[in-house]
Amino acid sequence: MLMPRGAWMDWNTFLGLDYYERASFLKKDNRLFHLLYSQQFNRDFLDYICSLSTAIRRLHKTPDGASFLGNLLSHKLAMLWFKQESSRTYLSFESACQLLGMKTSDIRDPNVSSEVKGESQEDSIQTFSSYFDLIIMRHPCKDFVGKAAWVLNNSRRAVPVINGGSGKDQHPTQALLDIYTLERSFENRVNPGIDGKTIMFVGDLKRGRTVRSLAELMRHYKDVKLIFAAPKHFAPSEDLINLLLHHNVQFRLTRNMHNALKEVDAVYMTRIQDEHDEGGHKSERFFPEFSIGPKEMDLLNENAVVMHPGPRRGELDPAVDNDPRVVFWRQMRNGMWVRAALIAYLFNVDSEIPSKSRFWVP
Ligand code: NCD
Repeated sequence: MLMPRGAWMDWNTFLGLDYYERASFLKKDNRLFHLLYSQQFNRDFLDYICSLSTAIRRLHKTPDGASFLGNLLSHKLAMLWFKQESSRTYLSFESACQLLGMKTSDIRDPNVSSEVKGESQEDSIQTFSSYFDLIIMRHPCKDFVGKAAWVLNNSRRAVPVINGGSGKDQHPTQALLDIYTLERSFENRVNPGIDGKTIMFVGDLKRGRTVRSLAELMRHYKDVKLIFAAPKHFAPSEDLINLLLHHNVQFRLTRNMHNALKEVDAVYMTRIQDEHDEGGHKSERFFPEFSIGPKEMDLLNENAVVMHPGPRRGELDPAVDNDPRVVFWRQMRNGMWVRAALIAYLFNVDSEIPSKSRFWVP
């Protein structure tokens, strides 16, 4: 049974809980039911989703494997409700659904839904759940994904909600695909895996939700060191810093990305999130000293990698795309495998995948 059932917890009480506390209300039968926050994941889950993503990726390479996957959820329907711009997240979720045989519908332009006729948010959510088995959503307001899950938990037809990006706050499935990309990037090292690695985040670390969600997950890895290299005004916000301090994650802040390049195992580039500019102020969009091009690649270790959640602008020069250390395009494709793994997990068909044991990497 879903918790909470019934209206015993009002919205404001739910809203008053921190994400760790909310996590227990987003489960069903001891499994994650809604995927809203990075704080819901533990190390076992992270490792498991990586293994499952690899199994799906390998299965999909053969016609038999692809048709096995395509039958897993052919009886399920998914709704993509994206109220903010998206290319990668939208398309990788859509292709992940299709890869598992699900059919999808979407609303990307709120002006074509009954929201413009004055329908309440609660009613819109329940309307969508009437026709679909899964709602994948992106929303500019930080708390709207929580609202959707709360409304559905208190309705007679609760379907899972996946957060595909909520305001400046969270992007948990991006964090999972980033974890998977890091794991794959380090798999052939003498010390494989993320434990013990140094990861530098660069760019708009204040408003980038991918950075917040990924940095939060670093507490699950041993002896990880984080470096935050941001222009003035774009340093990580206090709540992220406090969270890292609370969990004893080692980190330091710097304005000198170049000096730190030689000591990192991965660089996570981000663009300036100028869509969040406030009060008529226009942020500068490009900081050359926080960008990677051929010269910066020369400073990087030979087995370090460069990532970027996309969309990129000047901060990652396409001239370096063919350097094998730049895993930007692989990272993008990983989004599809990881999202397929998450959807298979949510519908409890993941246990059928390991039975194809020759594809399974524990
Ligand atoms: C990111 C996002 O939307 O937060 N993009 C994505 O989902 N891959 C990063 C960004 O927009 O800069």
